[in-house]
Order: sequence, then C-alpha cells, then structure tokens
Amino acid sequence: MNARLVFASVLSFSCFVINKNAAQGPQSFSIDYKNNRFLKDGATFQYVSGSIHYSRIPRFYWKDRLLKMYMTGLNAIQIYVPWNFHETLEGVYNFSGDRDLEHFLDLANQTGLLVILRPGPYICAEWEMGGLPAWLLQKPNIVLRSAHTEYLQAVSNWMATLLPKIKPWLYVNGGNIISVQVENEYGSYFACDYNYLRHLRELFRFFLGEDVILFTTDGNTDREMICGTLEGLYATIDFGTDTNISAAFQRQRRFEPKGPLVNSEFYTGWLDHWGDRHAEVDSQKISRMLGDMLAMGASVNMYMFEGGTNFGYWNGADHDSRFRSVVTSYDYDAPLSEAGDPTDKLLAIREVIRRFFPVPEGPMPPSTPKFAYGFVTLKKVGNINSLLDTLCPAGPVQSQFPLTFEDMKQYYGYMLYRTKLPRTLPEATPLISPLNGIHDRAYISVNGVYKGLLQRDITLVMNLTGQQGDQLDILVENMGRVNFGSNIHDHKGLLGDLILGKDVLTDWLIYPLDIDGVIANGWPQWKQAAGAGFKSSNGPTFYTGILEPTGFAWDTFLKLRGWTKGQVWINGVNLGRYWPQRGPQQTLYVPGPLLSTSQPSNITVLELEQAASDLRVLFMDRAQLNSTADKA
Ligand SMILES: *[C@@H]1O[C@H](CO)[C@@H](O)[C@H](O)[C@H]1NC(C)=O
Ligand SMILES: *[C@@H]1O[C@H](CO)[C@@H](O)[C@H](O)[C@H]1NC(C)=O
Ligand SMILES: *[C@@H]1O[C@H](CO)[C@@H](O)[C@H](O)[C@H]1NC(C)=O
Ligand SMILES: *[C@@H]1O[C@H](CO)[C@@H](O)[C@H](O)[C@H]1NC(C)=O
Ligand SMILES: *[C@@H]1O[C@H](CO)[C@@H](O)[C@H](O)[C@H]1NC(C)=O
Ligand SMILES: *[C@@H]1O[C@H](CO)[C@@H](O)[C@H](O)[C@H]1NC(C)=O
Repeated sequence: MNARLVFASVLSFSCFVINKNAAQGPQSFSIDYKNNRFLKDGATFQYVSGSIHYSRIPRFYWKDRLLKMYMTGLNAIQIYVPWNFHETLEGVYNFSGDRDLEHFLDLANQTGLLVILRPGPYICAEWEMGGLPAWLLQKPNIVLRSAHTEYLQAVSNWMATLLPKIKPWLYVNGGNIISVQVENEYGSYFACDYNYLRHLRELFRFFLGEDVILFTTDGNTDREMICGTLEGLYATIDFGTDTNISAAFQRQRRFEPKGPLVNSEFYTGWLDHWGDRHAEVDSQKISRMLGDMLAMGASVNMYMFEGGTNFGYWNGADHDSRFRSVVTSYDYDAPLSEAGDPTDKLLAIREVIRRFFPVPEGPMPPSTPKFAYGFVTLKKVGNINSLLDTLCPAGPVQSQFPLTFEDMKQYYGYMLYRTKLPRTLPEATPLISPLNGIHDRAYISVNGVYKGLLQRDITLVMNLTGQQGDQLDILVENMGRVNFGSNIHDHKGLLGDLILGKDVLTDWLIYPLDIDGVIANGWPQWKQAAGAGFKSSNGPTFYTGILEPTGFAWDTFLKLRGWTKGQVWINGVNLGRYWPQRGPQQTLYVPGPLLSTSQPSNITVLELEQAASDLRVLFMDRAQLNSTADKA
C-alpha cells in the first residue's frame, strides 16, 4: 500500500473538519525569498534561539528556565515533542503534569518567547529511541522512519492527536510558534525514503494549514542534505564550533538558493556517554562564531541552551562500534546548567547578543538555592529475587524460549528471567549469549547468590557451577534504546537463547517488574527495612533510607560514592541511573520540589552489583559531572 493511500485512510476515519474560513490573526510570519530573510508582521526578523526540552525539566521550573533564556536576550526557543513521552501505550495519550506541552507553550508565550517546534515524529535528542515509542517494535518487520505501512499509520494517528493541539499556537493563529520542523536530520538515516517525507509534509500541511513555515534540518554534508530535504520544506543546516561557517552556509545555499540562512543546531556543548570524558565546548569559540553568524544576518538556534536531565529511563544510546548509553545528566555544558543555573557561557553569549539586539533590562534571575543535606545511611530491603511477589504481583509469564521486553509489553526498566539448571555442573561451565542477544546488561545469580554479569557487545560468556534444578535468575536491564543511526530497532531483554554448556536453556518464568509503580505507591517502608541490618550484599538489591525534613526543599545533588551501578528514586520519583565507577557523572540532580519540607523524604536505591560498604549516600550543594576533576 502506498503512502498516499494510508494517509487517505487515516483522514477518512479521523473526525475533523477543515474550516477554510478560519479567522486569521493579524500576525504573520513568512520567508521573504527575494531578500533572503524572515518577515515577522511585515518586518525583517532574525532569530536568536535556544533549545530547551520540557521533558527534561520538572514543570515547577519551566518558568524559571524560560525567564533566564528571555533575560539572555533570546527571542525564541526551540523544542522537541517526544512522541514516546506522550503516547505511552498505543492510543493512550498523556498531556498532563510534566507532559503538559500546551502549558509550556503558554509559559513561553507569557515570557515573550517565540517557539520553533520540532514534533518529529523522530527527534533523536539523545532521548530513548529518538522519541519513537517502543511499542512500535511489536509490529512485525516494521521499518522505522520509512513509508512502511504500519509505521505510517502509527505516525498519522499520533499527528492527528498532536497537530490539532498545536494549530491554535501557531503565530499566524495568535500563538507563538513561528515554524515547525518536519522529522529530524532525516538525511543521516539510511532509508532516504522520500515517500516518507512527502507523507509527513502532507500530514503537517493538512493539520497546520498552508501559512506556517515547515522546515527540515540536516547535518553539514551533501549526502545528508540530499536525503533530508524536500520541495516545500525549507532546508536548514546544523553545525558546531568545528565548522567553517561560510562553507556550511554555502552548502545550505546549494540546497535552498534563496531565503534566510539558518543554523538550526549550533552546538554549545555535547553529550556524555558512560565511560566518556566529560564533554566541553569552549565558551570563547561559541561567542566568536555566534557573533559571526549573527553579523551575517543568519538565524541561529543554540543546541542546547538548557539541557536538563534524563530522569527515569529516558536516556538514549548510540550504537556505532558498540552499544554506548547516554548518562543521566543532560547538562550538555550548556549556557544554563543541568540545574538551570546561569554560567559564564551564558553571560558571554548575552554580551554577543547585546551587540546586535536590545537585551531586556533588569537582572538575570539568580541560581536556585542549593543545599548540602549531608549523609544518609541506607538499610537493606532485600535482594530482588526475594521481592518478586511485591514487584510482580500478577506473577510471571511462562515461555519455552525467552521473550523480549516488547513481547512482554514492559518497555522500560528491568525484567527478571528465571529457569533451572538443566544438569549438575561440577566444573566451571560457560553460559553463553551466542548471538550477542543481551540487551543490555544481565545480572546473574544461582539460588539467590550473585555470580556476575553479561553485557551487550562486551561480555558474552561467563562460567557457572551448580546442581541440577538450581534456580537461575537473570535480571536484565534496558539501558536506553538507541536514538541515532541504522540500529534504532533496538529490542530489549533476552533477544535469543542462552546456552549453558551443551544445553539450550528453556522453560522460562519471565517476571515483568513494576518497580516504579510499587515505589510510587509507598514501597518500601523504611521502618520495616531494618531487619537485614546494615550489611550490603552483591547483586541486584534494594536499599532504602530517609532524609529528615529541614523545613525547606532546596535543590541538591546526590552522590553515591563507593556504590557501583543502579537506579535511585526519591519520594516515588525516578531520578535516573547512577554509575560512578564508570563516570564521568558522579552526582544526580535532585530538584528541590521533590523533597518534603515537613515529612521525611524516602530514598530508594536499586544497586545492581555492589553497594558501598558503609551504605551511605551524600546530598551535596554542587554537581560533579567530570570524574576526572573529582579525582584531582
Ligand atoms: C501523565 O504524566 C504525568 C507526568 O509525568 C504523571 O504525573 C501522570 O500520572 C500521568 N498520567 C497517567 C494517566 O499516566
Ligand atoms: C500570547 O501572548 C500574547 C501577548 O501577551 C497574547 O496576546 C496572546 O493572546 C497569547 N497567545 C495565546 C495563544 O495565549
Ligand atoms: C572557509 O570556507 C570558505 C568558503 O568555502 C573558504 O574560502 C575559506 O578559506 C575557509 N576558511 C578556512 C579558515 O578554512
Ligand atoms: C571458564 O572456565 C574455563 C575452565 O576453567 C577457563 O578456561 C575460562 O577462562 C573461564 N572463562 C571465563 C570467562 O571465566
Ligand atoms: C515516605 O514513605 C512513607 C511510608 O510509605 C509515607 O508515609 C510518606 O508519606 C513518604 N514521604 C513522602 C515525603 O512522600
Ligand atoms: C574536567 O577535569 C579536568 C581535570 O581537572 C579538567 O582539565 C577539565 O577541564 C574538566 N572538564 C570540564 C568539562 O570541566
């Protein structure tokens, strides 16, 4: 079935009416091709914009971050809409609380910031699966980001929900959205499927009308510009400080001979993967290049201006030579820090902007206050294998062969696979993942005793001993789905059989774990966790502790020195992953509003390998994202 047919079928069952007589606001925003510029309400317009992701910032702080961006002299922000953040299960939508996109648009509008909207459907963004919902992977043989029928159908359904919400926010309709990006750096994807881009163009036009600027953005190579651009979508380009500005804009000109020059992603910093050196981009280079681009009359969006945090399981991953997962912090070395604090880079950028445009009068809002609450000693709750009645009340699914997270419809977090040793193994016998099918880390125990781990692309074999019938438990961690490149079809869990000696392991009990659900409901009770004393143990184990109230709830940073790798929750909210042993990130950002001012705050830690011997965690008043520096 071709793209057009699918599109037609979507339109026929969606209930909406095109109102050709819809009142047009007095506002206009367009491209003046003759004079190579944007026109806003008839006057020349150049944007100085910054990227900010509402999905990486608690709602409580949205206004604070937007105000700081406005006070820097920005006239616009650029935002992504992560599809998987809003359509959590197929056909189930969430636009409330921290996911309230329209509230964010409203705050930006009240702050005086225009919006460049990037609704995907794919967004990359170093976000889990590039923003695509993992439930797409349940559709057999789906080719993501192509004109594949079932993919297009899901995209059309999503856009039929999202875009009508967006339409009133378009500048031409009295809102603040001046332009809308179609897809994201599509030219970097192997499929190079113009039918897909055409389908998106028609979908966006249908829901948003003819008056809004639709554009694409691509990396600074011919191949990317060829596969990522399409007639009717204004072609823009992305580049950072390592690039020759005039050469890059000449490339944009080759694909878009007339119209404004636009750098849609000017990189103020960069992301970190676990095990990387902390990324850093020089502030002086940023200032110099920003000044050069603005002097050329180019419109520039700084990616990122405020990075924020990959809370919960929302981090993405790369898979080039091997799987590499993105750290929890998305600080990005951006002008506003992870915790939203103005940096020297921000002040330098403000001085550059001041040379071209008036910067609002008045002081920059200060950093939010931080507090070092100090040490908290945790207590052991129990080993994960002993808590399955709590974490998986519905019980396991039986299956001869392993099922993936997607098969089980548990898309994120951790899942436990249990079977028995098929025979007695008196000598060290290899447990093998022959097709590298562990996505992404498997923590293995026999009769509740931790034996070690297997890791995607790194450790495919380990030795076991034991008796026939011994219980083999394998906790598999999803470390975040690949968000870039040709490996985005990234299923999680055990993707194939495991082999122990000469036996293929079969007859599994598979436990989907609702860890976040039970913790949000008040588990574990600190008072009841005392039993096991202060001893740590190896392998996946829960610990809990309480932070006594101080009467105020300021931002803080949680350091797990001496702990190995795991996940932390505070008062039921999943802060993300920690892995100090790997680094470079050493502290997790704890937004103040998560803490209670009057009641003890509950801390829960799932340590996957080895807890710190003193079971202490530390609340500090500053971030440590550069383990190199921390050791110095
Ligand atoms: C929707 O998302 C918000 C913010 O994450 C969350 O608090 C709320 O529970 C979600 N609603 C549903 C029905 O899942
Ligand atoms: C956006 O802000 C402007 C100026 O304050 C206001 O006139 C307009 O109604 C707002 N638009 C929306 C959609 O709220
Ligand atoms: C930058 O590119 C321009 C145009 O391609 C070229 O003339 C110039 O020499 C380049 N500058 C540097 C420093 O490489
Ligand atoms: C497993 O045991 C065998 C035999 O003792 C040994 O040669 C091999 O190095 C071990 N492999 C691992 C991964 O420990
Ligand atoms: C901490 O957990 C206890 C027990 O579940 C609960 O009563 C209390 O309200 C929680 N504290 C906060 C701040 O949520
Ligand atoms: C990280 O720490 C090292 C050593 O102190 C320092 O040289 C480097 O500049 C730091 N990097 C960042 C991004 O802070």
